[in-house]
Amino acid sequence: MIKFSESRLAKVKEIIARYPDGKQKSALIPVLHMAQDDFGGWLDAPVMDYIAELLQIKPIEVYEVATFYSMFNTKPVGKHLLEVCRTGPCMLNGSDDIIDYIKEKLGIREGETTADGLFTLKPAECLGACGYAPMMQLGEHYREHLTKEKIDKLIDELRAQAKN
Ligand code: FES
Repeated sequence: MIKFSESRLAKVKEIIARYPDGKQKSALIPVLHMAQDDFGGWLDAPVMDYIAELLQIKPIEVYEVATFYSMFNTKPVGKHLLEVCRTGPCMLNGSDDIIDYIKEKLGIREGETTADGLFTLKPAECLGACGYAPMMQLGEHYREHLTKEKIDKLIDELRAQAKN
């Protein structure tokens, strides 16, 4: 059954209480982030329905937001989500080559996950770190000035971590 832990539910209530009565929808984005973190890295329909119930809004209001923002995943993702920026400054600094290299190295296409469930490649739009182009977001961290060598090192490290 889909349910936040008691401590997470307390946090949800705290977030909702930041807004005036009847405006609990304003808590939707932070609560969706919590749900994505707690329920496997993506938001499936039962999770979104649960959030709608918690916030006392219609499920469609949750679906609209979850499908609009690229930071929410509405399909399963691997343990490591490689979100490579491909907007102008990153593109001019080689993000297409980086994306192609990752595809070739991992044997996946954009939006796909490796068979071992470790990596998902998800091209992203500007992540606000254009001065460090080309770059990607990996979990809560940015990886900057990407090169093929840096990608090799990163993938090796993450694969080694997975074995431990
Ligand atoms: Fe890539 Fe802005 S264009 S971070």
